[in-house]
Amino acid sequence: MTHSEARVGQVALVTGGSRGIGFAVAQRLLVSGMSVAILGRDRAALADAVARLEQAGAGRVIATAADVADEESIAQAVSTTVDRLGPLDVLVTSAGTSMRARRALVETSTDEWMRLVDANLTGAYLTIRNALSHMERTGSGYVITIMSTASFHSSANGGLYAATKYGVRALTESLIEEYRGTGIRVSSISPGPVDTSIWDRKLEPPTATERALMLHPADVADTVGWLLDRPPHVHVQDITLTPWVAADGSQARVGPDRHQPVPTRNPRRKGQGL
Ligand SMILES: NC(=O)c1ccc[n+]([C@@H]2O[C@H](COP(=O)([O-])OP(=O)(O)OC[C@H]3O[C@@H](n4cnc5c(N)ncnc54)[C@H](OP(=O)(O)O)[C@@H]3O)[C@@H](O)[C@H]2O)c1
Repeated sequence: MTHSEARVGQVALVTGGSRGIGFAVAQRLLVSGMSVAILGRDRAALADAVARLEQAGAGRVIATAADVADEESIAQAVSTTVDRLGPLDVLVTSAGTSMRARRALVETSTDEWMRLVDANLTGAYLTIRNALSHMERTGSGYVITIMSTASFHSSANGGLYAATKYGVRALTESLIEEYRGTGIRVSSISPGPVDTSIWDRKLEPPTATERALMLHPADVADTVGWLLDRPPHVHVQDITLTPWVAADGSQARVGPDRHQPVPTRNPRRKGQGL
């Protein structure tokens, strides 16, 4: 049996699965035959996502509504997943948020700091802690944290978001050492800009041209699938994914005329980072 065949019937919880990267991950795992629980706060969005995922997938999909920063509701959501689908094999933490606008630290508010820390850092901590307590019962599992290039590179005006992602990196790296050599693996994916609804919430959303230069949610989802297909003796710590933008700000065309660079502005230089 191949590793991807072994995934058929396994159970995954994908936080932030109602849209964006989490939705694409849920879709990818369902197509591979896994049973998937998606988690988010907005019940209507979850119901809509389940309806769309049911059309796409071979596996079973359920939704569980919770705020990842709420200790009781996240514990309940993880238990519900196990009760309804079976022992948890995979956790993908994709729930998260970003700054409404890039701002110098002195111009930021405590409210925005708490919003980011709650969703990105406390949320990852609570979700992982609860999922691991279930995985420890079976002695096996895979935790994949969706971080960001901001988890290792902080830039001017992006400090609040980066602080939360650096925090998730610290948690992830500690967990790798805590579980090294066991049946529980922990990895992370650190994407650059991905074209999702997270950008719609910006005070000044990127233009269509800028969005066209971003990664697609499926690029991250494919990477999750690739990680899960690694044999048990292989550990991948972190994968950085970025749009392929040349140093001069041009992007190579995909297709027959791919050797002709298209002049564009480099989204990173323009300060598009989350
Ligand atoms: N898009 C990018 O450019 C990019 C790049 C690097 C890293 N990332 C990271 O990737 C992750 C997913 O981002 P995305 O672009 O897919 O965002 P998105 O399209 O805005 O989706 C965010 C998801 O997280 C859920 N969520 C947010 N806050 C939550 C909370 N407190 N409790 C439970 N669920 C919550 C949302 O559902 P509800 O709102 O209904 O709760 C939604 O399902 C985030 O951690 C983000 O930092 C994104």
